[in-house]
Amino acid sequence: MIEKLNHVAIAVPDLDKAISLYRDVLGADVAEVVDLPAHGVTVAFVNLGNTKLELLYPLGHKSPIKSFLEKNVSGGIHHLCYEVEDIFKARDQLVEKGMRILGSGEPATGAHGKPVLFLHPKDFCGTLIELEQI
Ligand code: CO
Repeated sequence: MIEKLNHVAIAVPDLDKAISLYRDVLGADVAEVVDLPAHGVTVAFVNLGNTKLELLYPLGHKSPIKSFLEKNVSGGIHHLCYEVEDIFKARDQLVEKGMRILGSGEPATGAHGKPVLFLHPKDFCGTLIELEQI
């Protein structure tokens, strides 16, 4: 069902500092900063060739990243994103196996304009999982 690791998301308390760290200190290719108001985040992707990092910063009052950063003040790994071929098929198979889908259970449009779903961290070794249809 899951295929490639699309990205590792890292919540950061200071986006400019995180971008500078990856671009200037680590010499990575950092893409432009994009606001995603529907998800309550501002993101900057770091292209690593075999995968990407998604630097996440809270946007708006109801940002899902806000409470995470209150618990992890210097930032931390927030979720992993795996690619799937058919998000509806993947969702139905997971629900059948007793896994919980966060939110309405319907795919939303993610950071790459593709349909995404989030899976309950308690069902996946304490890790929030994003599935993205490629
Ligand atoms: Co993501």
